[in-house]
This record gives sequence, structure tokens and C-alpha cells, in this order.
Amino acid sequence: MIVTTRHEAPPEVQEQARTFACKFGVRFVERKKMSIARLHEMSDYILVVTDNGLRAYSKGTSEPFFFHPGMAMLRIKRLLNGDTDVMVQACGLRKGDSFLDCTLGLAADSIVASFVVGAEGRIVGLESERIPGIIVEEGLKRYESPLQEAQEAMRRIEVVPMHHLTFLRQCENNSFDIVYFDPMFFQAIVTSESIAPLRPFANYESLSLAAIEEAKRVARRRIVMKNHRESPDFENFGFMRFKKMERAFTYGIIEVGGEAE
Ligand SMILES: C[S@@+](CC[C@H](N)C(=O)[O-])C[C@H]1O[C@@H](n2cnc3c(N)ncnc32)[C@H](O)[C@@H]1O
Repeated sequence: MIVTTRHEAPPEVQEQARTFACKFGVRFVERKKMSIARLHEMSDYILVVTDNGLRAYSKGTSEPFFFHPGMAMLRIKRLLNGDTDVMVQACGLRKGDSFLDCTLGLAADSIVASFVVGAEGRIVGLESERIPGIIVEEGLKRYESPLQEAQEAMRRIEVVPMHHLTFLRQCENNSFDIVYFDPMFFQAIVTSESIAPLRPFANYESLSLAAIEEAKRVARRRIVMKNHRESPDFENFGFMRFKKMERAFTYGIIEVGGEAE
């Protein structure tokens, strides 16, 4: 990965880019008049610092990857209007809960969870891949939303750039109410426009039994998995399917604390 700026960036943006490069231990390249294609001759992954945040370009794709809250805004608006949210129901989420998101991605699910658990709750989002981790952490800190509740929910999320198995192994028993997984496995064949730009940067590992076993120790109430409804992981890992959904994906639940709603 290399870090650069937009064309003709002002000194403060240049400085920010140098600071990022230093923080992540990667090379800073002065943009000058170079195109993205020219920069790709130096690296497959390019992180561009602009006045509006970070953009990542992967070799072979034309669309940049940048942070946006996607469907989270609409889901929060619906919850504010008294509607339900299937993920919130599947997790049995309530105010004050702690929620460990083992597959942060663009953080849409974490933002919704953060809104529901409120300031008394806690949301930790794990992302194993460097570029999505950087872009989403920065986006959650800086994205300005017209919806105050959504913006506050974003700011409360703690991003940890770590593989979930490593993190779970370090957790105390019963340290999160809910442990949540939404792996890329199978997602690649589902039309999901909001996560399309994330694809070249994501981790496609399937869930491991080791991670599920650790999650059983770490979760106080439930482990929840979102996956394609044809995924064999529901049966392989002993998830109970939440309810029939019209969509290509569904949720599975493993109750660990006997506090089912
Ligand atoms: C389908 S996306 C998650 C989408 C997310 N739920 C949302 O609402 O935006 C899966 C994300 O999990 C990350 N991931 C996959 N395996 C992981 C692992 N073992 N540890 C941490 N992150 C992982 C991928 O890189 C990807 O960014």
C-alpha cells in the first residue's frame, strides 16, 4: 500500500497524508500529476487522502472504496419511527448491551447496534483487513450526518484492526452480551451494492469452528450469524435459523445464556 493525496492538495492535506503513511508504516508518494493508473505501477493498493476523507483504489477496479453509512441511516430512521429491524430482533439487542461485531466491514450493522444500545452500551468492531479498517475507523470518527442520533452512534464504535479469532482468544468469559458475525463467505454471489466497493479489500475466509467455540465462551447471551440462506454454516455450527426471510440472506442464533426473548 502507498499513501498519497488528491491532485493539488493543500499543505494540511499533504501533512495529513504523511502522518497516515508514518502511522501505518507505508510509503508516502507525492501526487504531482500522477494518475491512479500510474500510481498502481508502484502498488496494488493506493490510499488517497482528500479534503473529504480517505479513498482506496485497488488495481483492476475503477470505483474507489470510501466510508459511507449505507443502509444504516434508513434503518435508524425506521427504528425512530417505531419500526423493527431484523438484525436487532435476531440479536435481541437492548439499551445498555455490549455488542462485539466480529466482521465490521462498512459498519452498517454496528452503527444500527450502537444506536440501539445507546451511550450506556458498548460496541467493538473487529476488522482483519488493513484498508477497510483504516477507512472505516476514520469514517466513523469524521462522517457528518444530518441525523444526530446516527452520528453519535458512529462516534461511539470502537474499531479494533484485528482478526476476530485473535481478539476472541484475548476476551474474558461472558464479556459481551452479543457476539455477531457477518462473513463475506457467500456474500460475493449476492447482489449487495452497498458492500460492492469493499470486495477487493475484504477477507473472504469462512468462519472457523475455533471462532465459534471462542464466541460461545465470550458471549453472555447470544451468538448471531448473518449469512446466505443456503450457507451450510448454519447447520455446521449449530445455529438456529431466526425466521424465514424473503431475502437471500438470513440470521442464525446460538443461545448461550438461556436468556432468549
Ligand atoms: C460482509 S462484510 C460485513 C458487513 C457489515 N456487517 C456491515 O454492516 O457493513 C465482512 C467484513 O468482515 C471482514 N472480516 C472477514 N473475516 C474476518 C475476520 N476473521 N476477522 C475480522 N474481520 C473479518 C471482511 O474483511 C469484511 O470487511
